[in-house]
Formats: sequence, C-alpha cells, structure tokens
Amino acid sequence: MPKMRRILKKTCLYQPFKNTRNFFIGRQEIKNLKFLEKEGRVLSPRHVTFEPTTKCNLDCRMCYQKQERALGKEDLSLEKIKEIFKRLQAEQKINKVSLIGAEVFMRPDIFEIIDYLGDLGIKVYLQTNGTLINKQNINQLRHCKNITGLGFSLDGPKELHNQIRGQAYAFDKLMEALALTKNDFSLTVNSVIMEENIDRLAEVARLLKEEGISDYSLQFEMIATPKDAEHARAMLDLGESDLAIDCQENDAYSFKLSKLTEILEELKKIKGLNVLIQPTIFYRHPKLYFNGLLRQGVKLRCKDMLAPRINAQGEIIFCPFIKKTFGSLLEQDFEEIWNGREMREFRLKLLQNNLTPVCKRCCRLGERQE
Ligand SMILES: C[S@@+](CC[C@H](N)C(=O)[O-])C[C@H]1O[C@@H](n2cnc3c(N)ncnc32)[C@H](O)[C@@H]1O
Ligand code: SF4
Ligand code: SF4
Repeated sequence: MPKMRRILKKTCLYQPFKNTRNFFIGRQEIKNLKFLEKEGRVLSPRHVTFEPTTKCNLDCRMCYQKQERALGKEDLSLEKIKEIFKRLQAEQKINKVSLIGAEVFMRPDIFEIIDYLGDLGIKVYLQTNGTLINKQNINQLRHCKNITGLGFSLDGPKELHNQIRGQAYAFDKLMEALALTKNDFSLTVNSVIMEENIDRLAEVARLLKEEGISDYSLQFEMIATPKDAEHARAMLDLGESDLAIDCQENDAYSFKLSKLTEILEELKKIKGLNVLIQPTIFYRHPKLYFNGLLRQGVKLRCKDMLAPRINAQGEIIFCPFIKKTFGSLLEQDFEEIWNGREMREFRLKLLQNNLTPVCKRCCRLGERQE
C-alpha cells in the first residue's frame, strides 16, 4: 500500500456516521449500477434531495448556489411542494428526503414541509448554516419526529467563519443552534477544506469536541478552471447557467497534501471525534484526487446518477453543480423525466467520458467497481 494511503487509512475513521448513511452505496444502488452502465436507466430511487429554496441569509465566499440565487426565480409554494411529493410518493415509495438549500430555514413554512413529508412516511435529513434555529422555533423543530439528522456548516473559529460566511453573526448563531439541538438530534458538522481554513481545522475539531459533537465531516472546495468548465459544457451540451462552479485559472490547492495529512493526524488524536472526508474515494487515491487527476487513472461514477435532485422550482436537475433541468414535476410524471431519453443519454455520456473535468474535486465522486 502506498505510504500516503497508509497514513490516511490510519488517520481517518471509516465507519459512516448514523445520519449520513445516504452518502454510501447500498444494495439497491449496486443493482441499479448494472442498469445504469447498460442503458443509463436507474430504478426506484428511495432517496431524493430537494432544494426547497434558493434564498439564503449568508453570503459565503465559496458558495456554489450563488449563481442560482442571482437568477431570482420564485420558490415553489407549499401547496405545489405537497402536490409534487404526494404524487412522487404514490409513484416511487420514497423513504428519505434530504432538504438542502441554499438555506432551508429561510422558508417560514419549512416545518410544515417536514411534517407533510412525515405524514407521507418520509424521513428527512436537513443541511443548514444553523443561524436561523433559535429559542423561538426550536420546539417546532423538536416536534418534527421524522428528522433523522441535521448537518451544520462550520468553516473556522469565530472570526474566520464569519469572514468566510459573510455575516458577523454567523458563528454565534450557529453555536446557539448546536446547543439547542445536540441533545435531541443526531448532528454532523461539516467544513469545506479551503485555502483560508486549512490551518484552523484542528481548532474547529477541538471546538466540536468541547461542544460534545462527535461527527465531523470534511469536503474539499470545488475548484475548476475556465477550460474545465468549457470542456464540460461542450461534452454535455450545457448552457451558460447550467454549471454552478466558480472557476479560477489555477486549480491547484494552495497547500500540500502532506500538510493535510499532518492535520488529519492531529484530528486523530482528538478522542471521540469521528472524522470523515467526502468523497471517500480520497482515501483510496489521495494523490490523484488531490492533484485533480482522478479521471485519468480511475473509473469513476457519481452518486447523483442514482439519486434525484429537485430544485426550488420543482424541476429535476442533475446535481448540485450541474443544474441542467430535465423536466418539471409539476408537468410530468417522475418516471417520464427520470428514465426519459434525455436523462438516460446524459448519464451514459457521463460514464463514457469518465465524468467531466469539473467533477474532479466533487464530494459526490465514487469509484466504478468492475
Ligand atoms: C450550499 S450549502 C446549503 C446548506 C446550508 N446553507 C449550509 O451552508 O450548510 C451545502 C454545503 O455545501 C458547502 N459548500 C458551499 N460551497 C461549496 C463549494 N464551492 N465547494 C464545496 N462545498 C461547498 C457548504 O459549506 C455546505 O456545507
Ligand atoms: S449558508 Fe449555505 S447556501 Fe448560504 S451562502 Fe453559505 S453555503 Fe451558500
Ligand atoms: S461528480 Fe460531476 S456530475 Fe457528479 S455530482 Fe459532482 S459535479 Fe455533478
């Protein structure tokens, strides 16, 4: 085993967190992979991601939802959301919905959405910046019995977090939310690994330990060059606004892989803290991943080929970063879109090309098993 991989294996814990099981591939998905490779078809997805809003109260430096927000499209009404999920549930038997915005708590009716999904027998996972959970609404959240987990974003100690997140109140409000929720929900805290915070991640980890939070998830900032974006657009016939990635000419990380492994060693010493890096393919091919060369050496797949994502207008889009729409659930049945010709051909094109150059740093990457 190469030295770097051995260090990483020792450093990071492999066991998945309870509330992020949806990131890992299950038996149904393995069966699905066979159809996917052959025809681009994906059967009976049980897990759906829904973006209930494009609105957000923060302005994070790296946010991939910025462009979408700038388009200023109107979010679906509560009634339309109910209509979509009622029909979807009748068609597909969904058992879990991940609610990931922009910021889901910007919707005053978010608790009604969660409750309605609960009435349909659907469990919910929420990802949030935590700033809008407070003493006034915590009881409404506690009342929602179908929540399986909450994911919070924390990118640094107070000043750095506030600087990255663009609001001076972001850190204190998040800490308040963690204190209000940690005894009643299964929590994961997520940091994006980036130039600004690489040296401060151990401080974040120690802070989590002090707060009694044990699941710490790390993902790399998506970085792609304008050339990568151009290549992906041409490959997949994407429009200008279909790609939500901030591009920069130099796509190398400003820190070394050895620096990151040192930091991971430090995190390992914090007893009782489970650290997980997304994507887990990083553990298998750290150098290729880090240098953005995975596509050249490894046969790749992507989790979003198997799990639908619905945007705030009720359209099926491909993934968090490729926002191309394939049809509206207000106008068409799910199956008609999900296994329609356009979506099947899109998946096949992605597989044939071993994904796109913008996919090289994505947290949703996986390895294709032969
Ligand atoms: C877009 S946010 C939506 C949920 C919520 N507003 C939040 O910040 O947690 C989802 C996750 O993506 C992360 N994220 C945002 N921009 C990113 C980027 N360019 N690369 C990698 N992760 C990013 C955020 O830090 C957050 O953990
Ligand atoms: S809080 Fe989340 S959605 Fe809002 S700007 Fe930050 S990363 Fe984007
Ligand atoms: S790997 Fe590529 S296609 Fe898959 S979620 Fe990431 S950006 Fe989208």
